[in-house]
Amino acid sequence: MHADTPDSPSISELAERRLSRRTALAGGLATATVAFFGASAPVGASTTKDVSRNGGRRLLGFPAITPSVADEVVLPPGYRYHVLFPWGHPTVPSGPKFAENASNSAAEQAVQAGDHHDGMWFFPLKGSRSGLLCVNHEATTEQLLHTDGRAGWSPEKTAKSMAAHGVSVIEVEQDRKGRWQLAESRFARRITMTTPAEITGPAAGHPLLRTGADPEGVRVLGTLNNCASGPTPWDTYLTCEETINKYFYFGEQPPEAGSVEERYGIGSESPYPWYTTEDRFDMRVEPNEYNRFGWVVEVDPFDPASTPKKRTALGRMEHENAVVVRGRRGEAVVYMGDDTQFDYFYKFVGAEPINKALRRGRSPLDTGTLYVARFEEDGSGRWLPLVHGGPGLTEADGFADQAEVLIHTRLAADALGATPMDRPEWCTVQPRTGAVFFTCTNNTARTESVNAANPRLENRFGHIMKIDECGNPSAETFDWDVFLLAGDEASGATVPPDQAFGSPDGLWFDKDGRLWIQTDGAQPKVDGAEQNNQMLVSDTRRGDIRRFLVGPPRCEITGITATPDGRSLFVNIQHPGDSGTPDNPRASSNWPDYSATGRPRSATIVITREDGGVVGG
Ligand code: FEO
Ligand code: CA
Ligand code: CA
Ligand code: CA
Repeated sequence: MHADTPDSPSISELAERRLSRRTALAGGLATATVAFFGASAPVGASTTKDVSRNGGRRLLGFPAITPSVADEVVLPPGYRYHVLFPWGHPTVPSGPKFAENASNSAAEQAVQAGDHHDGMWFFPLKGSRSGLLCVNHEATTEQLLHTDGRAGWSPEKTAKSMAAHGVSVIEVEQDRKGRWQLAESRFARRITMTTPAEITGPAAGHPLLRTGADPEGVRVLGTLNNCASGPTPWDTYLTCEETINKYFYFGEQPPEAGSVEERYGIGSESPYPWYTTEDRFDMRVEPNEYNRFGWVVEVDPFDPASTPKKRTALGRMEHENAVVVRGRRGEAVVYMGDDTQFDYFYKFVGAEPINKALRRGRSPLDTGTLYVARFEEDGSGRWLPLVHGGPGLTEADGFADQAEVLIHTRLAADALGATPMDRPEWCTVQPRTGAVFFTCTNNTARTESVNAANPRLENRFGHIMKIDECGNPSAETFDWDVFLLAGDEASGATVPPDQAFGSPDGLWFDKDGRLWIQTDGAQPKVDGAEQNNQMLVSDTRRGDIRRFLVGPPRCEITGITATPDGRSLFVNIQHPGDSGTPDNPRASSNWPDYSATGRPRSATIVITREDGGVVGG
């Protein structure tokens, strides 16, 4: 259903096409090669021995580390880390302590760190010394969450699993020795799958969002599969609902081919047994509950009594993260990826300036235009507006109104001819140039055809894209390039072999312009052994890239934020030991506790330099 074009070119044809385009534009083969392989400068242009300089200022100041298979977090010399907030840690020091045998109740779990830490953000309170940390909890490993795992599933187990999803808001501070710790805080809260949330924007109240428990379609219990995130310029936190299909049971037979449910990933099984104790997850009983997830949710960390808001104007998909910048008129512009094989990259442009909306008590995210990206073969691109009534989006096309365009965003984007991508995950914006970078993590299902923006068949290791809107985030056209192709030499990577990585996922420009790249999934092998997931840093202007961190076995590295001074970097280690091995997730990792009876735990760590300098600098 997702063939790109009937006769897509081969990779070599494609390289030739792009090279000749660039040759024509730039007037030389050397420049053309650089542009094809990616950046303003090609990754690998400088060695790891020298030191990159950016406008005379050193940008990458640490030696690259080697790959690792150790059950440890490995950092460059001169750096240290501290485990700040592992799964089960109370959100305030006086809260219930974590029980190593996982005997904490659902009620205790609801005031402790959830599982599978993902996107997060640091909101300063006292400069770089203290702040609020919002942390997403994307999923759970049920075998570790309960003392006896999934055996004898019960309402209490559903409740504990639901309490381990969502978001933590904690207050963190540095003690006199510079060590980070949690504070007793009036801001501390957990948002879980039972926290009331409000549906706002064009789809609020739509019949497709109404359920037996909520006949008005405006109030949902909870937020789900909170993947990555993004701060807003008005100091709120966006948490993005991703792989929601796993939580809903459709019935013994899967949805029909071509149905809306199939397009949104519903199968015949639900890996989460919540539906066995809660009717709202059983689609045979409550078919609309599913439509109330898959949104970007706004949380005000500074108001612990505030209700999270599901912003329907940003569309419904498997949201990865949401990056908000200001457009030329002061409006909110939000970039977003839909992380599924052959799905799309989006942006939202607000209808009015942020300040005007806030002054009038309106959300800058409730009114505006959602666009989906189309990447042309010649390196140009277009943002296609997902507006009801336009070509392909009329009532005759199956969209009764704008709310349906937003609830069924993927179908609307299909109708407009958006470019199917190799699983768009995080995006980030270069602070000085406004260039938008986003990861395409991998796509081994691309077996039939490539396009210029997804140039590899069976794309096992992924790539990173770059969009240039010439300083106008509200533009309807753009130029684009492949910034890098990840992987090893054999896969055609454009990364130096000694810095090889695969499956780029987390992506973040720090304030100085360092691009942090986090991985989740297949890594290139060393001596036949697959290496642990990792985090690298790139100086995108120089094309330099260096490995900064390697995590424990079978974890993913995700979530990244820093104090304003850049001297403390918070990173999440998700599912060490891997959630994907049901029988014994402990077999490959016992990080971070290393206790004989303990369990590996997802955790927020904080990284500092022994000399107190800027992390990465
Ligand atoms: Fe939650 Fe696509 O990662
Ligand atoms: Ca994950
Ligand atoms: Ca991710
Ligand atoms: Ca991923």
